[in-house]
Amino acid sequence: MTDFLYPHRVASLRERLPEADENNPAIAALIVSDLENCRYLTGFSGSNALVIVTQEQAIFFTDGRYEIQAAKEVPGFERLIQPQGTDLAKASAEEIRKRGIPGAGFEEAHLSVKAFNALRTALDGENGEGKNLPLIGKSGYVESVRALKDADEIARIRLAVALADRCFDYILTVAKTGMTERELAWKMEVFMRESGASHLSFDSIVGSGANSALIHGRPGDRIIGASGEPEFILLDFGAELGGYCSDITRTVVVGGAPTDKQRAQYDAVLKAQVAAIDAVKPGAVGKDIHAVAAKSLEASGYGQYFPHGTGHQLGRVVHDGRALGLIDEVVMRPGMVVTVEPGAYVEGFGGVRIEDVVVVTETGCEILTGSTKELIALP
Ligand code: GLY
Ligand code: MN
Ligand code: MN
Repeated sequence: MTDFLYPHRVASLRERLPEADENNPAIAALIVSDLENCRYLTGFSGSNALVIVTQEQAIFFTDGRYEIQAAKEVPGFERLIQPQGTDLAKASAEEIRKRGIPGAGFEEAHLSVKAFNALRTALDGENGEGKNLPLIGKSGYVESVRALKDADEIARIRLAVALADRCFDYILTVAKTGMTERELAWKMEVFMRESGASHLSFDSIVGSGANSALIHGRPGDRIIGASGEPEFILLDFGAELGGYCSDITRTVVVGGAPTDKQRAQYDAVLKAQVAAIDAVKPGAVGKDIHAVAAKSLEASGYGQYFPHGTGHQLGRVVHDGRALGLIDEVVMRPGMVVTVEPGAYVEGFGGVRIEDVVVVTETGCEILTGSTKELIALP
């Protein structure tokens, strides 16, 4: 039989299945309903899927629209093609009962109450024969496998990050006073798509002047440089290339040399970012790395202007799991890829964020982002 496209992903998930403690009973099977998790395990690129993994079985459900595609993309799994419109959760429960699998875990963070009810009812069976089969909410099984990127994934992330770096170089040649934020965002999008991106990692953030203090501001009709004074442009963008995302933020000044106030704000964020990157190493806990950035900004007088976490995991999706937030207990391990992106946002004046992608190594971390972090002044 043909093996899985990603045998080590399935194997790693299987290793985790028996894990249990007193509050967390072991499970014989995991019902994977999150589409991104299904894609990660199987290689499927379609829009409707569900997977069951046990120690011996690996079952893939999709609907008739994807029969040919799944035959090509999902080797190794037993493929059960359902009529379009079938509730795949329900179909999976019927399969579990029919096969005598003694209960299952489901992804509690990803299954709607409606789908859970359908799952439970189908597992019970028409005559209640499956009523005693446990159905247990579980979290983080596939995500904990996804968190550790293999060499191929890291190589793909490198390429996506390099594309974002090239886009920043391009921005430096086109961004100028007089264009709108929206025009600049469109040029960035065209550049990234023409450079091979299948799509953007997320809608680009381009905030100029006071808008740069909007942490997730949308590019609008504001004319860059409209204040007539030097002003910040905060640029946060990324591209998906080869199935993996990049995510970079750089802040530049347009319309003249940076003022002392702008430089002080920029230097404070840069210092915090460098300190946080230094703290990323195996064994470090996410919230402690965040504290390094927060304390650095506090010491520089900008503590009150930093209201978000320091970073997240990055992979097939831009937010590929929690990482460096205020309360994150995530422990850094070699192969994890995270962003480091502190910022300081002063309402009515402007914001600065600096964001790099780093990969955790055996001894620390490697910065994948290559763009300069010097404060650049554009015309
Ligand atoms: N703008 C999304 C992020 O940097 O996380
Ligand atoms: Mn970003
Ligand atoms: Mn980010």
